[in-house]
Amino acid sequence: MTTLRWCLLFMLKYPHVLRRVQVEIDDVIGRGRLPCMADQDNMPYTRATIAEVQRVGNIVPLNLKHSTTAEIELGGYVIPAGTTVIANLTAILNDPKYFPEPEKFRPERHLDERGDFVQNEALIPFSIGEIT
Ligand code: HEM
Ligand SMILES: *[C@@H]1O[C@H](CO)[C@@H](O)[C@H](O)[C@H]1NC(C)=O
Repeated sequence: MTTLRWCLLFMLKYPHVLRRVQVEIDDVIGRGRLPCMADQDNMPYTRATIAEVQRVGNIVPLNLKHSTTAEIELGGYVIPAGTTVIANLTAILNDPKYFPEPEKFRPERHLDERGDFVQNEALIPFSIGEIT
């Protein structure tokens, strides 16, 4: 629900994105049937827009509580097994190393030069690992 609201807001704010998504929906799905999962392979711009909404929407900025299953060294710190870890998704989803000019809403950042959708490894709005 929250992500859908962000999506509506961005579509209002960026009508050129809305128009491109609408064209893709009309071309690929049309008005005579419901969408299906197979359609997404033919809808790179729409996928890129959803990805960008999830990145900028960032609806769970401090993530859910995770914990280490084994001792690990990270950034010079030794973290024992069973330690609660709160990862900062805001920092990841706005890391300029993975998302240049992260403050900009730009679906194209998720497309390659051929216009195909690329999954950015840092796009983890649902986090990674297990919830503890
Ligand atoms: C497009 C955005 C999202 C959709 C459509 C969505 C949808 C859902 C749905 C349908 C459920 C099941 C609710 C129920 O029946 O109890 C759920 C549960 C959950 N969601 Fe999301 N969600 C979204 C985003 C997120 C994000 C960004 C996170 C984490 C950062 C998240 C974490 C969870 C967790 C932890 C649960 C509970 C899982 C459990 O039952 O153990 N969700 N979500
Ligand atoms: C999370 O990261 C953002 C961006 O680097 C930073 O502004 C914010 O203070 C961090 N939040 C916490 C709780 O450390």
